[in-house]
Amino acid sequence: MSEAPHGNPIKTPAQLIAAVIAGFAVPIIIIVMLAYYVDNSTRTGAGTDSLNDTVVAQRIAPLAQVEIRDANAPRVYRTGEEVYKAVCSACHAAGTAGAPKFTNTADWAPRIAQGFDTLWHTALTGKGAMPARGGTSPDDFSDYEIGRAVAYMANNAGANFADPPVPAAGASGAAAASGAAPAAAAGASDTGAAQAAAAMAAMASIPQAAAPAAGATQSADASQAGKALYTQVCQACHAAGVLNAPKFGDKEAWAPRLKDPMDTVYNYALHGKGAMPPKGGSTASDADVKAAVDYMVSAVK
Ligand code: HEC
Ligand code: HEC
Repeated sequence: MSEAPHGNPIKTPAQLIAAVIAGFAVPIIIIVMLAYYVDNSTRTGAGTDSLNDTVVAQRIAPLAQVEIRDANAPRVYRTGEEVYKAVCSACHAAGTAGAPKFTNTADWAPRIAQGFDTLWHTALTGKGAMPARGGTSPDDFSDYEIGRAVAYMANNAGANFADPPVPAAGASGAAAASGAAPAAAAGASDTGAAQAAAAMAAMASIPQAAAPAAGATQSADASQAGKALYTQVCQACHAAGVLNAPKFGDKEAWAPRLKDPMDTVYNYALHGKGAMPPKGGSTASDADVKAAVDYMVSAVK
C-alpha cells in the first residue's frame, strides 16, 4: 500500500460495509468452492466435471441414426426365439387381440393342424388382427426368420416343426451354397431336406453375372428382360420343378396359382413363398422379376 503504515484504509462508512461483507463473503465462497472440488466425483448436475465423454456423447447423440448395411455381407439370421422376443411376443405372449398365446396348446393345436407352410404363409401375409409379418418389414426380418419364429412358437405349443430351409444367399458362389446345403439338410427332418440341398446346388450354378446382367436389360423390352432373368435365375427351380416349384409350361401346376390376382403372384415372386426365395434369390429389379413372372405365366396361357 502507498499510504502511511499506520493509516487506516477504511475511511468512510461505505468502505466499512464493503469490508465487512467481503470479510464474510470471501471465506464462504472459498469454502463452497473447496466443497465442490472435494466431492465432485459424486455430482452429476450440469457444469461439473462428471460430464465425461460418454455422458456427453449420449446427450448430444442425434435422434435418428443411419445404419449402413453391406448388402453383400453374409447375412446372419436371427433365431426363431430372437424374432419371437423382438416382435411376436408383443401380442403372442399375453394373447393380445385374440392372438394364440405362447405355449397355450389349446390355442395352437387347431392352428398347428394346418401344417407349417400354411402357418408360415399366414404369418407373412397376415390374418384378421395379425399384421403381415407381425408388422415388420422384409428388410428387417426375412421370410426365413419369420418362418423360424413360427416354428419356435408352434414347437413351444406342442408342434414338432423343423425350421424352414435356409435360403440360398443370392448367387453368392459355390462356397456359400455348399456350406448352406448341409445346414439345410441338418435343419430339416423330412425329405424336403434333400430337395432343399438340391435347390441350393442349383442356385450355386447361377452365374455370378446374373444380377448385373438382368439389371442392364431393365430398360430393354420387358419380355426380353423377363425371359433373360428366367433363363439366368428362375429356371434353376422352375424348369424341372425343384422343391415342387410350378414347372415352366405346366398348365396344371400353374392354374390354381393363377386364380390369385396377378399382384399376389408378383408379390410371391418378389418376397418369396414357401421354398421360393424372394426374387428367386437374385438381386434383379422388381420390374424384371415381374417380367419374368409374366414370361412364365405366358407359357401356360
Ligand atoms: C399386433 C399383434 C400381433 C403381432 C405383433 C404378431 N401377431 Fe401373430 N397373431 C395375432 C393375432 C390376433 C392372431 C390370430 C389371428 C386369427 O386367428 O384371426 C395371430 C395368429 C398368428 C398365427 C396363427 C395363424 C393361423 O393360421 O391361425 C401365427 C403362425 C402367427 N400369428 C405368427 C406370428 C409371428 C411369427 C409373429 C412375429 C413375427 C407374430 N405372429 C406377431 C397378432 C399378432
Ligand atoms: C430355389 C428355387 C426357386 C427359384 C430359383 C425360383 N423359384 Fe419361384 N418358386 C419356387 C417354389 C418352390 C415355388 C412354390 C412355392 C409354394 O407354392 O409354396 C415357387 C413359386 C413361384 C411362383 C408362384 C407363386 C404362387 O403360388 O402364386 C412364381 C410366380 C414364381 N415362383 C416366380 C419365380 C421367379 C420370377 C423366379 C426368378 C426370378 C423364381 N420363381 C425363382 C422355387 C423357386
